[in-house]
Amino acid sequence: MSGESLQENFIVVGCGAVGLDLLATVAAFPKPDQKIRSTSFKTQGGGNTGNALTCAARLGLKPRIISKVADDTQGRSILDEFQADGVDTSFIVVSKEGTSPFTYIIVDNQTKSRTCLHTPGFPPMKPDDLPESSILSALNGARIAYLDGRLHETALVVAHEAVKKNIPILMDAERLREGLDDLLKVVDYVVCAAQFPQAWTKAATVPKALISMLLSLPKIKFVIVTLGKDGCIMLERSANEVPSTEEMDVDKLLESLETRKNGSVCIPTCISSSVTKLRAEGIGTICGRLYIGTAENIPPSELIDTTGAGDAFSGAVLYAICANFAPEKMLCFAANVAAAKCRALGARSGLPHRTDQRLASFMQ
Ligand SMILES: Nc1ncnc2c1ncn2[C@@H]1O[C@H](COP(=O)(O)OP(=O)(O)OP(=O)(O)O)[C@@H](O)[C@H]1O
Ligand SMILES: *[C@@H]1O[C@H](CO)[C@@H](O)[C@H](O)[C@H]1NC(C)=O
Ligand SMILES: *[C@@H]1O[C@H](CO)[C@@H](O)[C@H](O)[C@H]1NC(C)=O
Repeated sequence: MSGESLQENFIVVGCGAVGLDLLATVAAFPKPDQKIRSTSFKTQGGGNTGNALTCAARLGLKPRIISKVADDTQGRSILDEFQADGVDTSFIVVSKEGTSPFTYIIVDNQTKSRTCLHTPGFPPMKPDDLPESSILSALNGARIAYLDGRLHETALVVAHEAVKKNIPILMDAERLREGLDDLLKVVDYVVCAAQFPQAWTKAATVPKALISMLLSLPKIKFVIVTLGKDGCIMLERSANEVPSTEEMDVDKLLESLETRKNGSVCIPTCISSSVTKLRAEGIGTICGRLYIGTAENIPPSELIDTTGAGDAFSGAVLYAICANFAPEKMLCFAANVAAAKCRALGARSGLPHRTDQRLASFMQ
C-alpha cells in the first residue's frame, strides 16, 4: 500500500440522528399477543447520520457528528462505538437529564423485512445546545456536510454556515418531515428513499418526480433514489445546456436504459444516457443525464439484514464525492458497500473498511 492518500484527510460533518438499535432476528414475524423467541440478537449503534458517517469513517474519511445523546448507558455505548470507528464525538451534546434515542428492530428471516419501532431521545436537540462557535469549529476544514433531515432546527443552522463556507451538502431524504423543505433548498446532492420523490412532488412516476425535484431545487446537482434490491436511479443536472438536441421523454428514456440491463451479471453495474434535454410531461424540462445503478445480486443464504442499507449507500456516496469518482464508479461503489452491509445483522457490522478486498478495484 502507498502512504496516506489524500482522501484520508477529508473531513465530513454530519448533523442528524444517532441512537442505539436493539435488533432481533425472528424465523417469522410475530402475530399480536404471540410469544416467540429471537434466533439472533444484537445491540448496536444506529441512526441515519450515525450509520452513514461510520460507513464514511471505515472508508477513510474523517467524520465529525453534531447530535445529542443523554448521559445514560445507551448514550455512553453510542459514543464508545463512534470513538472505536474513528468518528469525532466532540460535537455531540450529552444531556445530563433525559434519555438517548433507541430503536427496536425486528428482522424477519423469511421476508428479510426490518420493522422499526423508534423512541426519540429526550430532551430534543435545539440550536442553543451548541454555541455557534462550536458549529463553526465542527465545519472548519470540512470537505462536505451531511444531513438526514432530523434535528431540523440545528441542521438548518449547520446548513447555513456550511453554505457560507462553500462546503457542499449531501442530504438523505427518507420521508416528508417538519423543516425538510428549508434544508432541501440549500443542499447540493440528495439521496432519497424509494417513495420520497413522488411523495414530495406528487409526480406520476419516479423519473418525472426526479425532474420535478431538480426544477424546484435549482441548487441540486444530482438526486439519487434508492430502490432496495432494484438498485437506484440517478438524475444529474448538466452544467451546460445542449441547445440543438431534441427533447426526450424521461419515462421513455428510463425504459430504454432498463432494456440495456444484463440479468446474468451479479455485480453492481451502471447504465447511463448521454446529456439530453429531458422532458417530464406536464412538469417541465431539465438538461441532464439519467443513470441506472444495479444492486448486487446477493445469494439468499448471504442476505442477512437490509437495516441501514440506505445509510451505507449514502456513506459511500460521501466518500465518492470527496474522491471525485465519476457517477458510474460512484453508483457501483455505493452498491458494493451497501451489499457488504446486507451480509451481517445490524446497520454497521457489515460496513466494509477501505482495505476490504471487495473494494480493492475502487480504492486504487
Ligand atoms: N436486498 C438487497 N440486495 C442487494 N442490495 C441491496 C438490497 N437492499 C438494499 N440494497 C442496496 O442498498 C441500497 C439502498 O437500499 P434501500 O433502497 O433499501 O435503502 P433504504 O430503504 O433507505 O434503507 P434504510 O432506510 O434501511 O437505510 C440499494 O440501492 C442497493 O444497492
Ligand atoms: C433463515 O431462512 C433460511 C432460508 O431463507 C433458512 O435456511 C435458515 O435456517 C433460517 N434461519 C433461521 C435462524 O431461522
Ligand atoms: C451478459 O453478461 C454475461 C456475463 O458477463 C455475458 O457473457 C453476456 O454476453 C452479456 N450479455 C449481453 C447481452 O451483453
